[in-house]
Amino acid sequence: MSHAEDHEGTRRDFLYYATAGAGAVATGAAVWPLVNQMNPSADVQALSSIRVDVSGVETGTQLTVKWLGKPVFIRRRTEEEIAQGRADDSATLIDPLSQNANKPDTDASDANRTLDEAGEWLVMIGVCTHLGCVPIGNGAGDFGGWFCPCHGSHYDTAGRIRKGPAPRNLDVPVAAFEDATTIKLG
Ligand code: FES
Repeated sequence: MSHAEDHEGTRRDFLYYATAGAGAVATGAAVWPLVNQMNPSADVQALSSIRVDVSGVETGTQLTVKWLGKPVFIRRRTEEEIAQGRADDSATLIDPLSQNANKPDTDASDANRTLDEAGEWLVMIGVCTHLGCVPIGNGAGDFGGWFCPCHGSHYDTAGRIRKGPAPRNLDVPVAAFEDATTIKLG
């Protein structure tokens, strides 16, 4: 084999690998939607449950955990926050639905948003319902709850949208107390 042929062969190999590489990427992109559609199978959903120890969460503080790739806010509300949330039941609400996966098709009363009857525990997906930023908590915004600085959405102490472009209350995921200090998500 002459030097020129050898060079040619190397170049062909390089082109072959480069093409194969591009093909692999394209295949990956095509396969993804199919895999994604298959995700909600029962066994995958079982795996997607997590348990959160909330024994260290003081009143008036919030724990943020990552679940299914999203932040989840677990807030232990103060008496004032509970009273404010309940008083705001009579306010004009932008989104009249609870958006609580544990109480489908219920109204957005404070009681329908919380995990326990006393209204102490509020669990929500920490993703603004406008375009997906993570709102700031700990009494932020005009209504003492959460504020999304991206475009100025204000949520109240029950996580209900009260002002700004967000169309829906913060979503409450499937969640329940498993024992006195453990919340199961999913
Ligand atoms: S993403 Fe929150 S206000 Fe736009």
